[in-house]
Amino acid sequence: MGPSPIGINEDTSLISNSLFANPLIIFPFQSNFFNYKNLLKKESKSSIPMGSYGQEVVLITGCSQGGIGHALAKEFAANNCLVVATSRSLNSMRDLDQDHRFYLQELNVLSEESIQHVMSNVLEKFGRVDILVNNSGIQCVAPLAEVPLSALQKTFDTNLYGPIRLIQAAVPHMASRKKGKIVNVGSVSAMAPIPWAGVYTATKAALHSLSDTLRLELKPLGIDVINVVPGAIKSNIGNSAIASYNQMPEWKLYKPFEAAIKERAYFSQGIKSTPTDEFAKKTVSAILKKNPPAWFSSGHYSTIMSIMYHLPLCVRDFIIRRAFKC
Ligand SMILES: NC(=O)c1ccc[n+]([C@@H]2O[C@H](COP(=O)([O-])OP(=O)(O)OC[C@H]3O[C@@H](n4cnc5c(N)ncnc54)[C@H](OP(=O)(O)O)[C@@H]3O)[C@@H](O)[C@H]2O)c1
Repeated sequence: MGPSPIGINEDTSLISNSLFANPLIIFPFQSNFFNYKNLLKKESKSSIPMGSYGQEVVLITGCSQGGIGHALAKEFAANNCLVVATSRSLNSMRDLDQDHRFYLQELNVLSEESIQHVMSNVLEKFGRVDILVNNSGIQCVAPLAEVPLSALQKTFDTNLYGPIRLIQAAVPHMASRKKGKIVNVGSVSAMAPIPWAGVYTATKAALHSLSDTLRLELKPLGIDVINVVPGAIKSNIGNSAIASYNQMPEWKLYKPFEAAIKERAYFSQGIKSTPTDEFAKKTVSAILKKNPPAWFSSGHYSTIMSIMYHLPLCVRDFIIRRAFKC
């Protein structure tokens, strides 16, 4: 779905609820495809620790300290959830180490093996995953005409194929319980792409589109899909972007734009950027609703980007070219 024309927190669950009230009318072939009974038989609750019934088990990717995932992990825990906080290295989450509300796991979204390993550990420990949050992501700052294909591929692999790998690992289990929520963290940047981040915004636009299809395909399985669309949020994303940028080759046509390109890496990290804990509070509250919104956008620039999305392209281009001097 696209952003709301009137606001930034649009709930289309009413539409999808009524559409699927009688799914057999819409999908007469569905009973053959989605045989819940067999799936339900496979559910095992024997491994659920005492006292965890009623608590939501939330698996989040990219929980390094200082980032959005870390703040989401703490906020879910504050809302009585059991949190599987994952990141590429346990060291990046060591402040959560002694807190019994967190189950820390190393997970690299590029590796199917790593995902399967974590998923089986989680199912063994808790017997379920109620909420999957695909949060991990990387920036890629470079002009599209010269960006090395390897950088483009790595960004798609992390920001798009990574979430798909996790979704495919979690959905069979969620479907077996006919319950679950999948949260994909997109970006407002995809709503009005600005120069020098074309690869990143393309991955996020693709993730938004994927969430829209998933929402329809997973509803009959009892799984909600929530597209979380952050504005500018204080995190490590600018520093990580510059570290990757420093590995790029020297530009041929775009040498004169070098300073502007580097500036784009920190675009979301200005003094008015929303603090991660403030963003996490609002986001977790939306996700934990009984009927969560299909689209939830919050943070600095989220309103302006929502307006920009609806402007005629010539007006939008005029504004962006003036602002970015290109
Ligand atoms: N901050 C913003 O203004 C903003 C705006 C819109 C959208 N977003 C999105 O919000 C999400 C979180 O970003 P953030 O701002 O919190 O940035 P961040 O502080 O850089 O966090 C990104 C996280 O993703 C992890 N990650 C990167 N590659 C990974 C991989 N292959 N496997 C597993 N984890 C990996 C990072 O791990 P390492 O620490 O190991 O690198 C880190 O934990 C991203 O999807 C981002 O695109 C952010």
